[in-house]
Amino acid sequence: MEKTLKCIRSKIGDFKPEIGIVLGSGLGELADEYCDIAIPYGDIDGFISSTIKGHKGRLVFAEIFGKRVVMMQGRVHFYEGHSMQEITYPIKVMKKLGVSTLILTNAAGGVNPDFKPADLMLITDHINNMGVNPLVGKNDEEFGTRFPDMTEVYRHELINTARTCAKELGIELREGVYLANSGPSYETPAEIRMYKLMGADAVGMSTIPEAIVGNYCGMKILGISCITNSASKTGGEKLSHDEVIEASDKAKDKFKKLVLKVVEKV
Ligand code: HPA
Repeated sequence: MEKTLKCIRSKIGDFKPEIGIVLGSGLGELADEYCDIAIPYGDIDGFISSTIKGHKGRLVFAEIFGKRVVMMQGRVHFYEGHSMQEITYPIKVMKKLGVSTLILTNAAGGVNPDFKPADLMLITDHINNMGVNPLVGKNDEEFGTRFPDMTEVYRHELINTARTCAKELGIELREGVYLANSGPSYETPAEIRMYKLMGADAVGMSTIPEAIVGNYCGMKILGISCITNSASKTGGEKLSHDEVIEASDKAKDKFKKLVLKVVEKV
């Protein structure tokens, strides 16, 4: 950690980010438009580069509406073969840099039949179906407690702020429960039926490890999913990553507007 922080601080000086944003598949454009300093993950000691299309892989620092922001332009996923501890390491780094509010974003499949591609969904809660937890292992009391409470991972206060922002912008927002699998395969129709019964509204392969670690570190978290496809297909249509990228591309303008407004208001 000391090495990582030294490496980052050598590039950003005394810039102390207060808001952290993780930009998911196809949603990274915000960090192209607001970029004071960018550090590729490959140049940061302890960081891993993502291999996935739609994920650029750099840490971007910017001042937005007077707020100091650090953005992860792309993330590394569990299914890329790294440990839960490795993929959530950047969240701990953000904490060390001073981040207290964390905005997590992703592309997700809609389990709720009312959801359409390019809808935005506020994550109100989650179901960790990845079979693993990033806090497994020796606990470092410096970051948090051994058995963290999880009753309000996605803060009501931030959800309310996001609702107000969306209203002001005239953006229709969905809300619901995000369920994550390890991936990388998409879900079978039977699995989607089961997730619906379990109470999930959207399904993906990320975000939950970061939310668990961010919550454990005492960060206030807001989660936004971009619904890229209907996961509950029954007509035999196939799903591809290109379809996911195409839909997130369609949603990216309203997504950017919403995130910017939230940054302004928090
Ligand atoms: N399932 C899992 N992850 C996803 C999906 C999906 O349908 N769409 C985008 N990410």
